[in-house]
Amino acid sequence: MKKILVTGGLGFIGSHTVVELQNEGFEVVIIDNLSNTTISVLDSITEITGIKPTFHKVDVRVKSEVKSVFDAHKIDGIIHFAAYKAVGESMGKPLEYYENNLSSLIYILQEMRDRKLDNFIFSSSCTVYGQADELPITEKAAVKAAESVYGNTKQIGEEIIKDASNAHNLQCIALRYFNPIGAHASIKIGELPLGVPQNLIPFVTQTAAGIRKELSVFGDDYPTEDGTAIRDYIHVVDLAKAHIAALKRLIDKNNKKAFECFNIGTGKGSSVLDIITTFEKVNNLKLNYKIVGRREGDIVAAFADTTTANKELNWKTEMSLEESLESAWKWQQKQSV
Ligand code: WQD
Repeated sequence: MKKILVTGGLGFIGSHTVVELQNEGFEVVIIDNLSNTTISVLDSITEITGIKPTFHKVDVRVKSEVKSVFDAHKIDGIIHFAAYKAVGESMGKPLEYYENNLSSLIYILQEMRDRKLDNFIFSSSCTVYGQADELPITEKAAVKAAESVYGNTKQIGEEIIKDASNAHNLQCIALRYFNPIGAHASIKIGELPLGVPQNLIPFVTQTAAGIRKELSVFGDDYPTEDGTAIRDYIHVVDLAKAHIAALKRLIDKNNKKAFECFNIGTGKGSSVLDIITTFEKVNNLKLNYKIVGRREGDIVAAFADTTTANKELNWKTEMSLEESLESAWKWQQKQSV
C-alpha cells in the first residue's frame, strides 16, 4: 500500500483529499500544526472511512520537525496543502506569509531531493493569473504580477518547484484551484473558517444561519451580465478527486514533463448574484444582502478551461453548483447545532 504524506491534511481541502486517498487504498500520514483547524477533523475523517490516518502535530516552518516525519515514514508521494491562505490578511502580514508558505515548501523539497523521493502535488491557485486576458482561462494564460502577498506566495512557490524539479529531476504537479466550496456528502467535514469569513460561501451560509446580519455584495458595477463578479465555484470533493488523479499520473509515470500545472475548476462561471439566487432556491430560503462598493484587489471574472485537466488527468467535475450550495448549507446548519 503506497504511503502518502498530506501536509495541512486537517484543513478544508486537505481533509476531503485524505478521505478520497483512503477510498483509493492509499495509506495516509497527515501533518498539521492545527493553526487553522481542529483535531476533531481527524475523528471525522475516521468516521467517514473507518480508517484512522496517522497524524503528527508538526509545524512545517521548523525544518527539524519536517525532517523527523521523513525519518519516521517511507513516503511514496506528497500532497502539500499547509499554507496561510487569506488574501486580505496576507497584505498586512507579508513576512509571516512568505516564511510560512515558502520555507515549508523548501524544507519538503529538500527532503525529497536528499532522499530521492518523487510524486509531489502542490496546492496552487488561479490567483496566479490575476485578471486573465482571455476567458475561459487555460494553463497557457500569462501568469501576471500577483495582486496579493498570498497570490505571490503561490507564484513564487511554483517557480521554486520548477527550478528544484529541473535541477533534481523531481516529478511534480501544481494544481491551480479555482473557488473550492461545499462539503462532503456525510456532512462530517467541511469548511471551518475561523473568525469573520473572507470567502463568499461561508459568509453566505453564516448569514443564512443568522450568525452574520447580512451579506455585502462587493460591487454590482462590473462589466458582467448582472454587474457582479464571476468566479468558477468547484465542489471540494471534485477538487479532492483531482489530487488523486494527479498523484496517480505521477506514480504511474504518465506525466509528460517533470513539472506540470493544471487548472482545476468546473469550466463554468457564476456571478455573485447567481450564487445568491441558486443558494436561495436549492435551500428554500431568502438571503439578506446588500450591494456595497467593490473589494480592493478583486478581479472581474475567472473561470477555467478544463480541457487539459480533463484529458491529461482523465478527471472531470461530477458535482453541480446546486449540490455544492446544498451541502454547504447542510454543513453550516450542523455547525450551528
Ligand atoms: C468570490 C466573489 C468577491 C465575499 C479566493 C482566494 C483565491 C482562491 C479562490 C485559493 C468575489 C465576492 C466575497 C463577500 C462578496 N482560493 N464576495 N462578498 O476572491 O475569488 O478568491 O478563492 O486558492 O486565492 O482569494 O474568493 O470567495 O473571497 O470571493 O461579494 O462577503 O465573491 O468580491 O467576487 P476569491 P471569494
